[in-house]
Amino acid sequence: MVWNKRISPSTLFCLVITFIAFIRACNLYRDSTKSLRPSKSHLDNNDLDLLNARKKIYDPLVIGAKPSNIFYFIQVSDIHISRFKTKGHTQNFLHFLQSSLPTIKPEFVVVTGDLTDAKDPGGVNSYQSAEEWEIYEKAVKERGSDTPWYDLRGNHDCFNMASWSSDQNLYRKYGKSASLVEQGQGVYSWSANKTFGQYKFIAADVCPKKGPARPFNFFGYMPSTTMDRLEAEVLEGSYNHTFLFVHYPTTTVLFGTSSTGHTYHDIAQHISVYFCGHLHRLVAGLGDVLKSYDPTSDTLELEVGDLKDHGAYRIVAVDHDLVSFVDVDLPLAQIGAFEPSPELEWPDPPIKPAPVILITNPKDAQFTLAHKEPIARIGTSTHIRMLIFSEYSPDELKVRLSVDGNRHPFPALFVGNSSLPLWVSSWEANDFNDFQTHNLVVQVTAPDGQVGQSEVLFRVDHSRLYIKSGIFGKLVMKGQLATTLRGLSILAVVGLLTLLLVPKVWADIYPSKGDQILVEIHKLDQVDQSPYQGLYRQCLLWYLRFVRLPQVDFLSWFMCWITILSLVCLPWFRAEFIPTGETADERLGTFYMWGLVLNQQWIPLSDTWMYATMHFCDDIAVFVLLFAWRTVDSCDLYCRSNPNSNSNDGHRSQQLYERAWFKGFEIVYLLWRISELAALAAFYGGFWPYFFESILWLWSAYVGYVLLLGAKHGLLRKRSRSDRIGVILEGCPGCLEGTPNQQQLPFTLDTQRERGGGVDRQANDNEEAAPLLVNSSVPESTGLSSGITSSSPLLDSSEGPVQVKSRKRGTRSPTEASTD
Ligand SMILES: *[C@@H]1O[C@H](CO)[C@@H](O)[C@H](O)[C@H]1NC(C)=O
Ligand SMILES: [Zn+2]
Ligand SMILES: [Zn+2]
Repeated sequence: MVWNKRISPSTLFCLVITFIAFIRACNLYRDSTKSLRPSKSHLDNNDLDLLNARKKIYDPLVIGAKPSNIFYFIQVSDIHISRFKTKGHTQNFLHFLQSSLPTIKPEFVVVTGDLTDAKDPGGVNSYQSAEEWEIYEKAVKERGSDTPWYDLRGNHDCFNMASWSSDQNLYRKYGKSASLVEQGQGVYSWSANKTFGQYKFIAADVCPKKGPARPFNFFGYMPSTTMDRLEAEVLEGSYNHTFLFVHYPTTTVLFGTSSTGHTYHDIAQHISVYFCGHLHRLVAGLGDVLKSYDPTSDTLELEVGDLKDHGAYRIVAVDHDLVSFVDVDLPLAQIGAFEPSPELEWPDPPIKPAPVILITNPKDAQFTLAHKEPIARIGTSTHIRMLIFSEYSPDELKVRLSVDGNRHPFPALFVGNSSLPLWVSSWEANDFNDFQTHNLVVQVTAPDGQVGQSEVLFRVDHSRLYIKSGIFGKLVMKGQLATTLRGLSILAVVGLLTLLLVPKVWADIYPSKGDQILVEIHKLDQVDQSPYQGLYRQCLLWYLRFVRLPQVDFLSWFMCWITILSLVCLPWFRAEFIPTGETADERLGTFYMWGLVLNQQWIPLSDTWMYATMHFCDDIAVFVLLFAWRTVDSCDLYCRSNPNSNSNDGHRSQQLYERAWFKGFEIVYLLWRISELAALAAFYGGFWPYFFESILWLWSAYVGYVLLLGAKHGLLRKRSRSDRIGVILEGCPGCLEGTPNQQQLPFTLDTQRERGGGVDRQANDNEEAAPLLVNSSVPESTGLSSGITSSSPLLDSSEGPVQVKSRKRGTRSPTEASTD
């Protein structure tokens, strides 16, 4: 092993530039997240103490048959009122207002965002539409005015809008709570002051302060200033429960830090439930409504399905401070297609929903809050309690209860009044205090034959059940998508740079590293490999490829390296992110991996990280691997004497990328990637000139050049015969053994080949039978026994019988010949 003690100037240069890029990246990170950090912080290290929020477990309040200590409200989300959609959307909302709201008569309704769809008929461009907003405003006025109504913007309500005060911000004109949002600078609250307790409701607008048009407008963020407002609201006063309403689930929000140094997690200690929408039961049939419980802050996060497609809405009840909810779907089967109209037209005939049941005691054990709810009240309660919503009067309803499959022996009685549809049935809670999970089913049959059913899993011993949700839903909820994507992009960058730089430094220090690895691989190929050895061989092989990349194909190595650094440090492209902006400054923005810069202001949207993660994986990593892969070809791996190398890799170890069909596939892949780049242009101001200035275009152009015309493996390159000549690797016993007459070949070093000093002999396809290493014109004895070395004058002379070139290969097997 030769220790060079020296790193080549080119490597040193690359390392220095990479370091400068790293400094620049740190600066970009700091600038882009500036708004998430307090400008001046007066840290108080007092934790917002969970103990303060703790409930006394033993108290005199007994859950019984009285119609008191209870209220309920409705959460609706993702209405997406649309001028164009003929199913769902506007129509579901109108049906909800017309048929559900009047029978439920909630304390209030809160709409958690995406009030309008704000898309064009093709669903490509996005902009606010006064028509859609007018329908929202009118509908709420005509059918919702008896009920206090709170609303919030979602991402659709801030598509394509330069600022809150822009006249594109139609929420400001038509939204019911717009003035509250404005006064509260993004956060407002209301409360329910009951004789039995005080309850606080907070709504927060976490839309981007400058709203890009689709698609870079999916994530939300809460700047430090808004966090201050939220913290002030959460800490003000003392309440039995505090509920927070936001359009986005926490996994899609970047929360800033308040000036007292508190994060969302700290603040959440004072929040019982975080209600949200936005994910629409996850697109593509992944199907979960996302619900999760965070034990460290004792907070529930409950996403509700969307009203627009699923017709979903939620009724939440607080009964003796136990919070329960039921998610209801409108009877979609009764709702057909309809003709969207710019005017408000109430659907006719109205739908007739089945009875809706919300069981409030015992509450569902999946959703208990250990410290914020008086769970012990379930065990001391004398009655099962439920709210039953139906347009029929209570005496027309048949209510049937069963516990664990057995009919409950006590009848259900209506004990409510015209504004409280409360039913109770007496029970002996202690009978169920057996450390088991029980199941209560309530069925209500209306005179029209429709049956409503509700079910809870309950426990009397205070323990929680895990929330039932799919694996995917759990991943999304717990995964903190917004920060995970950032982590993934940075991981991709660090990983790729490591793969590029470390082998380069390594190759400087140990110039013969590549040969040693190759010999090792040849040796491994002599034996039947165990799976472990096979894996080891693969690792060695990839190691070799990356060691060789800067040596064999320096231009590609350089392009990979410089492209990655540029993506980290420079803008990816400029584009019209907000096409409705009035001035060019408002319209144009710059895309960095770190966020968007719109009108000189950083908007830290995780959308840029999502885009970056995708492109680092699909555009950069794929081709970096391909470039590296191409540096070790089947000639290098072919070991003369080795029967395994013929059979193991099937086709005489021909690499996949050497086959024509695979090269075609590479081109198709590249075209797909280019079409993705072009598709983005359709959203933001077209092709010219901005998208052509993009780094990814330059990269694609280079990749295209290599795939088509690159040396040796370009699709349009005809492989010269010399490219197919094999190597005789010095130090590999197999290679030497396999040569004719078992003679030693002192000259055929791989490094010599890379430095252009190897020996080339034209392969002769007719020489199949005799694996001769030399051109037939050269007397065998000359080539093999005269001890030719790379420094031999004979080799350096191009006129000599032996040409100086890179590859040597004496033979081709019949199998290879037949498939080439
Ligand atoms: C609300 O909180 C107060 C003060 O902690 C408590 O006395 C009251 O019982 C609570 N209300 C209910 C319904 O539990
Ligand atoms: Zn939505
Ligand atoms: Zn949304």
